[in-house]
Amino acid sequence: MTRAASSASRIGIVGLGMHVPSKVLTNFDLEKMVETSDEWIRTRTGIRERRIAEPGTTTSDLACEAARHALKNAGLSANDIDLLIVATTSPDMLFPSTACLIQSRLGAKDAVCFDVSAACSGSVFAMVTAQQYLEAGRYKRALVIGAEILSSFIDWTDRSTCVLFGDGAGACVMTKVSRGGILATDMGSDGSAAELLYMPGGGSKYPPSHASVDQRLHFLRMNGTEIFKLAVRRMAESAQTVVTRARLKPEDVDWFIPHQANIRIIQAVAKRADIPMEKVFINVERYGNTSAASNLIALYEATQNGPVKRGDRVVLVAFGAGLTWGSVLLQW
Ligand code: ACO
Repeated sequence: MTRAASSASRIGIVGLGMHVPSKVLTNFDLEKMVETSDEWIRTRTGIRERRIAEPGTTTSDLACEAARHALKNAGLSANDIDLLIVATTSPDMLFPSTACLIQSRLGAKDAVCFDVSAACSGSVFAMVTAQQYLEAGRYKRALVIGAEILSSFIDWTDRSTCVLFGDGAGACVMTKVSRGGILATDMGSDGSAAELLYMPGGGSKYPPSHASVDQRLHFLRMNGTEIFKLAVRRMAESAQTVVTRARLKPEDVDWFIPHQANIRIIQAVAKRADIPMEKVFINVERYGNTSAASNLIALYEATQNGPVKRGDRVVLVAFGAGLTWGSVLLQW
């Protein structure tokens, strides 16, 4: 991935939106479900509460709300969109893509639609993908959505994972901008570590069956200690890479908006990449890890009511199952 085009033809964000379910699940609620404590969860993860979708709610339900919000903020309608990319690991169904389902519901009839599967790096991967398509000139306006109902794939009897995740959606509209925009990007993958974080069941390897359900193969599995170490290393390196690619120094960046997985991962990334914590935007305490939605929800909150101002340089950095990692450096 190279440096982005000159400012006259950069791709940027012209509207952002988010949506989270209204139901709040606090650490105290979790104390009644598994052997855990608010104190353990807060000190190990920084999470106080997360949002959980009601049964019957789909990922596309959350995504459509976030998308309408982003379109409204961009002053555009669904008719204006010609590229619709959805990042999710919890699609409504294996096929068709959640992007196609959203297209129909929004009425974005001219959009080409597909999903991106990059777990918690999903919104960064989808934004970089959209940027490449838009920069090539074939498409003019992209709607990028990161949306998850991971609560459907969480083993609510496994205290080591169920305390970490939450549901939600973030969305952005991307097009050519006359000022600011994306200055540099980075993406990476390492499939050799796939089994550190995965859901074995539901695909062709372990199709749904009584046996696969009995073996609890349809729930997320994670080696938390190894994921922690790799997340810190890869996110720190990726953040440094985009800064170097934009021919900037870390001190030239105003805000870092990391994937909101765990406060201790975020602190360790900041330390390793030499980023002062005062420049790091954090909302993990209210939403937990919303996977592909995380960076876009955080960007929404940081720019709409938060500290990011017009002209600020912002680094989004993500890491997730795959393994996958990536960054976007943009001028707001
Ligand atoms: N409540 C109470 N005790 C718990 C809980 C819980 N919810 N979960 C685990 N424990 C126990 C363990 O059983 C263990 O007990 P033991 O020593 O008797 O065996 C003890 O706490 C310590 O467990 P550790 O795994 O050493 O705890 P650690 O300090 O590593 O924290 C955690 C665990 C929070 C999962 C950490 O490893 C982590 O954050 N990993 C990254 C995971 C992550 O964020 N994944 C998200 C997807 S990838 C991404 O988004 C970056």
